Amino acid sequence: MTTPYYQYDLGVLEDTLKAIGRCTSGHDNWHVHYAIKANANPMLLEQVRKYGLGIDCVSGGEVQTALDNGFEPSRIVFAGVGKADWEIDLALKAGISCFNVESEAELDVIAERCQELGRKATIAFRVNPDVDAHTHANITTGKAENKFGIEIPMLLPIVRKALANPCFTFSGLHFHIGSQITEMGPFELLCQKVNMLQDIFEKEGISMPSINVGGGLGVDYENPLQNMIPDFEGYFSVFSRHLKLRPGQQLHFELGRAVVAQCGRLMTKVLYVKQGTVKKFAIVDAGFTELIRPALYGAQHRIVNISSNGPLQKYDVVGPICESSDTFQKDAVLPETKRGDLIAIMTAGAYGEAMASCYNCRRMVQSESGKFRTADR
Ligand code: LLP
Repeated sequence: MTTPYYQYDLGVLEDTLKAIGRCTSGHDNWHVHYAIKANANPMLLEQVRKYGLGIDCVSGGEVQTALDNGFEPSRIVFAGVGKADWEIDLALKAGISCFNVESEAELDVIAERCQELGRKATIAFRVNPDVDAHTHANITTGKAENKFGIEIPMLLPIVRKALANPCFTFSGLHFHIGSQITEMGPFELLCQKVNMLQDIFEKEGISMPSINVGGGLGVDYENPLQNMIPDFEGYFSVFSRHLKLRPGQQLHFELGRAVVAQCGRLMTKVLYVKQGTVKKFAIVDAGFTELIRPALYGAQHRIVNISSNGPLQKYDVVGPICESSDTFQKDAVLPETKRGDLIAIMTAGAYGEAMASCYNCRRMVQSESGKFRTADR
């Protein structure tokens, strides 16, 4: 296959999905939704569907993609701060299971669309719990200064407004505090916030059939091959130990990265090795058009030269895009690298292909399934 391309190891995805299944199987009231924004490649979606996950969407395009890939509308939830009217209509007509509503203004528009279309909507409110996820600022979502969700002091009047409107069935509360969270502390804090809110709602006589705690579980970018399966046990056990669910209450999760990150890698070839006065550059044929995470979040993905086992040297691994931020890693230690070597940029299954662009009039690249060898380190 011509480089660059994404390679997905479906065996790794299967092992990941099985690990999720093992952690959740004893809990009939738990529902895991795959956050399709992480990667909507049909190969991956097919596996995700086979293992019984639902879908978490944040756009009309994602709702449509989920439907096109065979997911039941009753397993689809829809969040997002800026749902356009056509997106709301699409989801209403499809009969998705829940709108995660992020503002009073949005509530009013959904009510309007329901009336216009003669439909009812099941809704949850996304709460901004003001919990610090200790992750990169660009992927923190649950702090008061973030645009997401409704702040706790404003919540009750909006919920009462929804309860008074026959267009709506109130399902409960939705949270998502951020992404690439590797310590369990923030999830524990989230549980405490949820418990506190549940007590308030109970006192007010408002019952909530379900709670949605979002996603955010991080993965190991440093040592992917040694650590392919994320810490699902630690993650799920936080919720079973700390969340005080009410009898009959359903619990929803929305995991994206943790499901697909490790099963994908970006394959690229070395075009040139350029020796500067202070640096040696390995210039590869993939750029931030195929994987924007290093440029956008300073993410460090493990880089492996599959073609060489020469002596170790330092390289800045850079792409061909006309921007200095098109750098995958500075001072990467690689075996001696030359033109034509095949390079794997690991842990690219989540937010790689999904965030690709055509900047510099580049073409969208293809994907294939393949097996990662443990020898590739
Ligand atoms: N639920 C909602 C409402 C979300 O906004 C997100 C991610 C998720 C679930 C899934 O989060 P995950 O389990 O994947 O952490 N492009 C960034 C990540 C952005 C995440 C946006 N929202 C990155 O490459 O790090």
